[in-house]
Amino acid sequence: MSWIDTKAHEALARIREAKENQVYPFFKQFESGGLHTSIDGKPIVNFSSNDYLGLTTHPKVKEASKKAVDQYSCGLSSSRVQATTVAHVELEERLADWFGYEACLLFTTGYQAMVGTIMSLADKDTTIILDNLSHACILDGTFMAAGTPRNAPEIRFFNHNSARSLRRCLRTRERKNALVCIEGIYSLDGDEANLLELLDAVDEDENAVLVCDDAHGTGTLGKGGRGIFEKYDVKDRIPVVVSTFSKTFGGIGGILLGERDVVDHVKNMARSFLFSASLPVPIVAAASTILDMLVEDGEGLVAELHEKSAYMRKSLTDIGFDLGMSDTHIMPVMCNEERKALFTHLAMLESGVMLVPIVYPGVKKGEERLRLNVTRGHSKEDMEKLLELLETYGNAFMILSGEELAPYEG
Ligand SMILES: Cc1ncc(COP(=O)(O)O)c(C=O)c1O
Repeated sequence: MSWIDTKAHEALARIREAKENQVYPFFKQFESGGLHTSIDGKPIVNFSSNDYLGLTTHPKVKEASKKAVDQYSCGLSSSRVQATTVAHVELEERLADWFGYEACLLFTTGYQAMVGTIMSLADKDTTIILDNLSHACILDGTFMAAGTPRNAPEIRFFNHNSARSLRRCLRTRERKNALVCIEGIYSLDGDEANLLELLDAVDEDENAVLVCDDAHGTGTLGKGGRGIFEKYDVKDRIPVVVSTFSKTFGGIGGILLGERDVVDHVKNMARSFLFSASLPVPIVAAASTILDMLVEDGEGLVAELHEKSAYMRKSLTDIGFDLGMSDTHIMPVMCNEERKALFTHLAMLESGVMLVPIVYPGVKKGEERLRLNVTRGHSKEDMEKLLELLETYGNAFMILSGEELAPYEG
């Protein structure tokens, strides 16, 4: 055995134990796509999906992808530098137009879009200032930039959503320029960015700019679903928006929006764009079809999501669940104990409802929760079933009473 086998074996101890105890909750194998699927032949309603408008399996979306397979197949065998199609460029132009930005660049994933954007914009004259609950793609882009020889930016963190803490970072930074990175909605807590106060802090500083990762706000916030900048009517104060096709847009892919020169600069600099294969055209076609739907009736689609989400929030809080910091359609059910989250997940899954547990190290110990995302694609019956089951198991596993579970005696 080499050292890598030893290392892997030791690192996997916790996962091995969870598997032996039959409570390992991840990598369940779906047998079809969409919110209504099956696992091991058993029907499942997925309440942890990010298919926020429920359009991933829309017949028009599938049809468009199938047509694109006929014309382009599934892969283009190279990066965008030598594998760009008219479909990529057309969608970039349409997205820029719909969001209201001068230019757009498509990446192969949202993760790559954020990593590439940060690495292209930050240099030794920059302080990157991050919310302390930032997504991995923001952290990884920052840490990779910090590892660039002779050109590393400074890094600072501010307390989650605190304009006061952000101002302190801006005031005490050691580099001339500041790149402040936030998210429109924080997906583990389901809370919106404290956007207006953070923007005021950024705007007071002539060398600070804001980058907003709106992966979870796209399609869910703003009247027409353009995201958090539409909701607060502040597009002109946010020079760079990054988003994804992996939630509302029914596929996979990253979106960068900004001024033409900024987008062109990233296009020519971002290693995660230049050195990774281009987005498959069937995926481009799926996203383009969902964009058609947003153009046609974004307001109606978003309103339906909000209606369902308001119903779910009221029902969950009436039952007595703690939804933490959530103020959006993402409503984590706080369990605050790992076993409560794991046991409830398993019991719900047995009964046909999937709620993925989020445990340490995804969140701090004592802040374990179940990921509950309401989407436009969930029916009234889906929601009633979820509520009934969650109340039953919330009582059985003492999530509702808050009492500690009895110690495990193996
Ligand atoms: C806030 C945020 N940014 C970026 C991403 C990455 O997006 P993608 O799945 O397109 O790589 C995610 C996905 O989970 C996310 O939650």
